[in-house]
Amino acid sequence: MGFQRFTTCFLLALCILSQSLTKGTFGFACNWGTRTTHPLPPEILVKLMKDNGINKVKLFEAEPTALKALGKSGIQVMVGIPNDMLDLLATSVNNAIAWVDQNVSSYISKIGVDIRYVAVGNEAFLKTYNGRFVQSTFPAIKNIQAALIKAGLGRQVKVTTPLNADVYQSDSGLPSGGNFRPDIQNQMISIIKFLSQNGGPLTFNIYPFLSLDADPNFPKEFAFFDGSASPVVDGSISYTNVFDANFDTLISSLEKNGFGSMDVIIGEVGWPTDGNSNANAKSAQRFNQGLVNRIVKKQGTPKRPTPPEIYMFALLDEDAKSIDPGPFERHWGIFNFDGSMKYPLNLGSGKSLVGARGVKYLTKQWCVISSNTNVLDPSFAESMSKACTYADCTSLAPGSSCSGLDTKGNASYAFNMYYQTLDQRKDACQFNGLSVVTNIDPSPSQGTCHFEIMIDIGKHESKSTSSAAPRIGIEYFMVMLVSSFIIILLSLFI
Ligand SMILES: *[C@@H]1O[C@H](CO)[C@@H](O)[C@H](O)[C@H]1NC(C)=O
Ligand SMILES: *[C@@H]1O[C@H](CO)[C@@H](O)[C@H](O)[C@H]1NC(C)=O
Repeated sequence: MGFQRFTTCFLLALCILSQSLTKGTFGFACNWGTRTTHPLPPEILVKLMKDNGINKVKLFEAEPTALKALGKSGIQVMVGIPNDMLDLLATSVNNAIAWVDQNVSSYISKIGVDIRYVAVGNEAFLKTYNGRFVQSTFPAIKNIQAALIKAGLGRQVKVTTPLNADVYQSDSGLPSGGNFRPDIQNQMISIIKFLSQNGGPLTFNIYPFLSLDADPNFPKEFAFFDGSASPVVDGSISYTNVFDANFDTLISSLEKNGFGSMDVIIGEVGWPTDGNSNANAKSAQRFNQGLVNRIVKKQGTPKRPTPPEIYMFALLDEDAKSIDPGPFERHWGIFNFDGSMKYPLNLGSGKSLVGARGVKYLTKQWCVISSNTNVLDPSFAESMSKACTYADCTSLAPGSSCSGLDTKGNASYAFNMYYQTLDQRKDACQFNGLSVVTNIDPSPSQGTCHFEIMIDIGKHESKSTSSAAPRIGIEYFMVMLVSSFIIILLSLFI
């Protein structure tokens, strides 16, 4: 009897201990975007996350290859729903049931993906959308919530909606003056009420880099956590960085509407490394190291000392993203597109950021302008424009890593990006006879301009393609011919 009680107690203690250990497991959270011409194999990316203590990830949609790789990985997942699905999901609960069935339930039950959140829409109330998604967001949230409950996942998977920080503002310019934008205030209140009733958090994206980029008079130092800007004084609080000030403007907005204790997540925050004069490895390292230090120290803001969950933006660069926001939009990665390091980060407890391992690259060859090309050749500009339409030339933009190249260097950079993006296909280095393939790395020896080699995604031609391909075709044809002949013969005899 005594022994039995002891074992029960012991087991119970063990359970509580292991639960508190897994619950309290410290880790980082990150966004995984997939708008890229050369995706890193998902298994390598999952390994990269684990190697760096990233145990939470946010996806912008239910991307099958990503979700499959996350099965039984121990990484918690937030699955996003793109804005263009909001109308459909708002119209009928059956559409939401189908979405949850295909994109949540099956991944949890069949592959063991640890889905914790569904993010309905992405910055749906952004001013530049002119109200396009304002009516559909709340109904879509309600239908997804109903579908999750119907699937028996109401406790396990919470609903949220990531919003841009432009949904709140401050008339006084100080955090204490925060309130929601008048045009969406009613929607915001309905959504917050509904989410809080269902235990779902609010999610906001905060971008000090964009604050800096949008305003030529913005004090640059105020964008960083360790900045030396003169503080913004708001009553008894002195704000030393824009992240704290922005976050507390949100908290004031929530308080003013009676939701002071609403759970909040930071869905995106980060700093790009190229495509803009403020975007470089040095500034990104400074910003992200400051951010990591806060996460490690579990530091909150003056108005909310308990820190929010913070999803860093982003894991990798994405060369196929829209550059409407600016050329920097393809360079938010903590890592390069191939998982290699951009800059070191100290992750606390003696750990440092490590790059991806086991990545396969294409052959070390580049496509460059041939030495005898005349830049006044009429096909020069045309070739350049063709290359930059299909490939990513954002590193040539003013203030970027390759903006110091001369006209010929420019063309070489563009030609090479096109050639690499098309997996070094032979016909991808034929710009009206202006280009040539070389084995010598054309990257300038000084500075940060780097002529890329893409990763091998199994699409390049094999070395002896032109001669080998037809021969394989003929062999295949011969085999088929002989075997059909035998089958016909056999059928005649039977
Ligand atoms: C599941 O998600 C994908 C990716 O967003 C989407 O294309 C698909 O339509 C969704 N399935 C359903 C049944 O809605
Ligand atoms: C190089 O290309 C970029 C982007 O197309 C352009 O802005 C820049 O003016 C070019 N520089 C030279 C020297 O041709």
